[in-house]
Amino acid sequence: MKVIVQSPEQIAKLAAEQYRALLGEKPNAVLGLATGSTPLGLYRELARLNKAGALSFARATSFNLDEYDGLPAGHAQSYRTFMDENLFSHIDIPIERTYIPGRADVSDADGQGYDAAIARAGGIDLQLLGIGNNGHIGFNEPCTPFGSRTHLAELTPSTREANTRFFSSIGEVPTQAITMGIRTVMNARAILLIALGAAKAEALRATVSGPVTELVPASVLQLHPNVTIYADSDAAKLL
Ligand code: F6R
Repeated sequence: MKVIVQSPEQIAKLAAEQYRALLGEKPNAVLGLATGSTPLGLYRELARLNKAGALSFARATSFNLDEYDGLPAGHAQSYRTFMDENLFSHIDIPIERTYIPGRADVSDADGQGYDAAIARAGGIDLQLLGIGNNGHIGFNEPCTPFGSRTHLAELTPSTREANTRFFSSIGEVPTQAITMGIRTVMNARAILLIALGAAKAEALRATVSGPVTELVPASVLQLHPNVTIYADSDAAKLL
């Protein structure tokens, strides 16, 4: 794993450069995307570069990591709404090639609709990840099997509490989500993880230098051949 410690502003620029290089070389690249606070700076930078004509998503396809289960379509806190507002409406990606997992993707005959769609698109070239305070990636909470594919997952109390800030009360935070599995994430050709803030420091330490264990889902990344981690100094303080 390559770990790069920089300011959040620099991280947004350096990560965006990775997208510019990828899309320059492979305009029809398949991008794995994330929601949450962490990618916002990167998404602003990608929108700026797209507007300036420095990179184009016109031939790209995207697959998001996860989506809450049970929110009505168009709900302000759904990840589809988040992606539309924070990225898709600001770039030239064709909206019909932006995929977000849903119930239908895990209720088909073999339960592997989303992974199959990713495979049909050619597999993910670059997967973006944030990290939970408990080391989760996507909504793969501690103890999720490393062999998991896209599935319906229960959110832990700590994850629901961390996400309460976007809802008016914890009772409104969904208890389940559909998420790419750990195997789905590990199948990406390259992975880019961003960690910002002191709340991520212990999870990042365990990810980078702890044992590879299902207790810390992100620790599986030690086994992937092409992972770049961008951390700010607060998130990196225990490394
Ligand atoms: C988001 C996701 C989550 C977040 C993680 C960090 O699609 O899959 O794993 O990346 O919970 O969230 P933030 O960035 O809000 O700290």
